[in-house]
Amino acid sequence: MKVLGIETSCDDTGVALVDITEERPTVLRSFVSSQVELHALYGGVVPELASREHLKNLPLLVDALFSETEHTLDDVNLIAVTSSPGLKGCLMVGAHYAEGLAYASGIPLTGVHHIEGHIFAPFLTSENLREYPFLALIVSGGHTEIVLVEDLGKYSVLARTIDDAAGEAFDKSAHLLGFPYPGGRALSEMAELFNPHQAQIKDTLPQVMQGKINFSFSGLKTAISLLIKRAGGADVHVSEELRAELCYLIQDAIVTTLVDKLRIVQKSTGVKQIVLTGGVAANYLLQERLRSFCESEGLTLFIPEARYCTDNGAMIALVGGLYYQTRGKLTPPAVSSRAPLG
Ligand code: KG4
Ligand code: ZN
Repeated sequence: MKVLGIETSCDDTGVALVDITEERPTVLRSFVSSQVELHALYGGVVPELASREHLKNLPLLVDALFSETEHTLDDVNLIAVTSSPGLKGCLMVGAHYAEGLAYASGIPLTGVHHIEGHIFAPFLTSENLREYPFLALIVSGGHTEIVLVEDLGKYSVLARTIDDAAGEAFDKSAHLLGFPYPGGRALSEMAELFNPHQAQIKDTLPQVMQGKINFSFSGLKTAISLLIKRAGGADVHVSEELRAELCYLIQDAIVTTLVDKLRIVQKSTGVKQIVLTGGVAANYLLQERLRSFCESEGLTLFIPEARYCTDNGAMIALVGGLYYQTRGKLTPPAVSSRAPLG
């Protein structure tokens, strides 16, 4: 079954053609058009501008998708579009475009929850993930939660952030250090340059909500801001060594919190399979720490390929396709900025 996936919930326009068979999915083609440069001018996503960019880019990307494969719209068995959660105007552009395409072509259409897309993203390149249950640590610019996945559509959110998301903590810290939006990845790359033998900073960052299940990043953000100020990190003339050390300390504090919460939830549930997903899942230190935790506890860890950690159309095609293939289920793409998972 060939599924056209469309993702426009935030600032990335994603389209993909995914072939889903009984054995495994194959991504035939996936394109993502990033709006990062546009929004960097404003230090964050401007919803109105994001919607207009989707409107402009979506038809071009879909045309490019078909011109770069041997397939046409006639080969498509299902159109899947992100319908929630996200920026309302952005979701509406994707959903209305998909509705028009489905109406004109007669192809069935289904709406997909964005977070379900992230949860199943490792399935895109892994054969044996379809065993349940598993715990999904979803870490992105807008979400930070640990979800128990007992089946397709059967989810329990076991831990969530009570304020900022992990990606926001990375991006806001990066902003304080002068990196352009979104900054999480740039901060992480800078942290890699830190040499522990040249450590200069005596201060430490607190372990926020230690021992508790839920996440909180806003207190950490305040502590980070004070640390940067005291070390003179916001100064444009600060040395590269000091900047790298600050990045290292910030990344270490965010990653420690994430791994700590996952450890607590894993111990209390005893679930043996872990999925790490969402934009922040591309972080090398988070991957490394989770890998060593999973190895020491005999757990299996699944992480999507880097290009499927961040927002993309392939993960949306996969989830829409799984519901349709296994249950014949189609969900009308009723746009909602805040719909709960499941
Ligand atoms: O999943 P995503 O593409 O969009 C949302 O649904 O939010 O996640 C984007 C987030 C941004 O906050 C970005 O800075 C962060 O993921 N991110 C990273 C890294 N790569 C992307 N954060 C830390 N380290 C990275 N390597
Ligand atoms: Zn996302």
